[in-house]
Amino acid sequence: MLGIASSIGFLNDPADILIFLGRLHPLVVHLPIGFLLLGALAQLAARKSKFQAITPLISYVWALGAISAFFAIVFGYLLSLSGDYDSDTLFWHKWMGVGVLLFSIGCYYATKKITTSFVYTKWFFVGLTVVSVFITGHLGGNLTHGSTYLLEFAPNAIRGLAGMPPKVEPRKKITELDSADVFLDLISPMLDSKCTSCHNDGKKKGKLELTTYNEIMSGGEGGDVVIPGDALNSELFKRITLPEDHDDFMPSEGKRPLTDNEVSLIEWWINVGAPPDGYFTQFDPEQEFVAMAENFFGLDRENQLYGRAVEAPDKALVDSLESRGFVLNRLMKDNYFMDANFSLSERSLESSDVELLVQLKEQLIWLDISNSNVHDTHLGTLGQLENLVRLDVSGNAITNVGVNHLVELKNLESLNLFDTRVSDGVLPVISNMKALQKVYLWQTDISPEGISKLRRENSGLKIISERE
Ligand code: HEC
Repeated sequence: MLGIASSIGFLNDPADILIFLGRLHPLVVHLPIGFLLLGALAQLAARKSKFQAITPLISYVWALGAISAFFAIVFGYLLSLSGDYDSDTLFWHKWMGVGVLLFSIGCYYATKKITTSFVYTKWFFVGLTVVSVFITGHLGGNLTHGSTYLLEFAPNAIRGLAGMPPKVEPRKKITELDSADVFLDLISPMLDSKCTSCHNDGKKKGKLELTTYNEIMSGGEGGDVVIPGDALNSELFKRITLPEDHDDFMPSEGKRPLTDNEVSLIEWWINVGAPPDGYFTQFDPEQEFVAMAENFFGLDRENQLYGRAVEAPDKALVDSLESRGFVLNRLMKDNYFMDANFSLSERSLESSDVELLVQLKEQLIWLDISNSNVHDTHLGTLGQLENLVRLDVSGNAITNVGVNHLVELKNLESLNLFDTRVSDGVLPVISNMKALQKVYLWQTDISPEGISKLRRENSGLKIISERE
């Protein structure tokens, strides 16, 4: 069959049916293992007078073992054509497998044809068969899972006996960016989760291993994959930035790709010289990369705010706020963040409304109290709404004194002060709101000079100071 296959050129480009059969190998190999170990066990048992009756059956067990070993070898050979496996391990696995077949045939003849005078021959073959089954199986496991698989979780004493280094302590979870190692905490975990299933020491697709720094730098089939300082010419970077449907795109086979953030961080890492270690922040990353790294470690504000589970608000509280004229909405399907809007109410905002609203501070992230007769004293209490992301206080007679109370709103991204009495004195407060992205300052007492100064000093801030 293999002869035919090779003569019509299957072996260079195996047809689907052959790959299909090859992939049956991991399933089929369990048959010879079972039969052959059963054969050896039966052989031992038959020495007891109680089990002597099974003796005539034993040779059939060996025969089944040999036949199934034959098929396992054929399928295994087909499998070896379709994947690239570590060639040394593959060589030994293949020939030990052939050994299993020959030894089990030996067992068959020794039990079937040859009489008791050949008792040593029989035990000789049985011993060889059992030992080679174990070795072949172990090598096969190494081929699919990598040679460290078996002892990965073994106690260090046993790992030591096998010549393996002690277990690597898992890296501590990064809780502040300053303690993150540029390779071990940032780059290596990305490759571990998206690449090393195909690029490890047992399965080196493209002859490339991505498990350690040294392996990465020693490159693959096509030579170096990382050129320190030059991401654009690094094969590794090219592979992860191709269109996803391109043949050479990595990870291949439609596996979950790296995120845009991860790709950019890998680019950054290569461009700063692909350092093997050192703290991330030590390389003076620009603000955008800091933000990406914070996002990668789950340290960014957005992750901390929206990633948190928020409990459902108290029903009675919601009811009484609604009866006072607040329109409440839940903003996200899988969380209880809420939006409260008082601007449509005919009433003026009263201190008792504000007191109630503060009880919703876990859930409340958007608040609109525009044109509601809000005073500076109200803002004093509203300063406790620490999760607020958007606040609209436009059309109220509030001043710098009131806005001063809002400086504690660490999550505030948008602040609407349109048509209020704030003046230049409010600008330092606005500059201090670190999360702020957008501020409306149209129709206030702030001077045009003040606006342009604010603009100059806060380049990331969108300032709306006239009719849009
Ligand atoms: C599903 C298996 C699979 C995964 C997952 C995978 N690769 Fe590959 N990779 C391959 C195969 C197969 C080849 C060889 C064929 C080729 O060059 O396209 C290869 C080749 C490569 C090469 C070229 C090596 C050389 O020198 O020729 C690079 C670089 C590479 N992969 C990087 C990656 C990176 C980075 C990831 C993770 C984002 C990844 N791979 C994930 C299967 C995979």
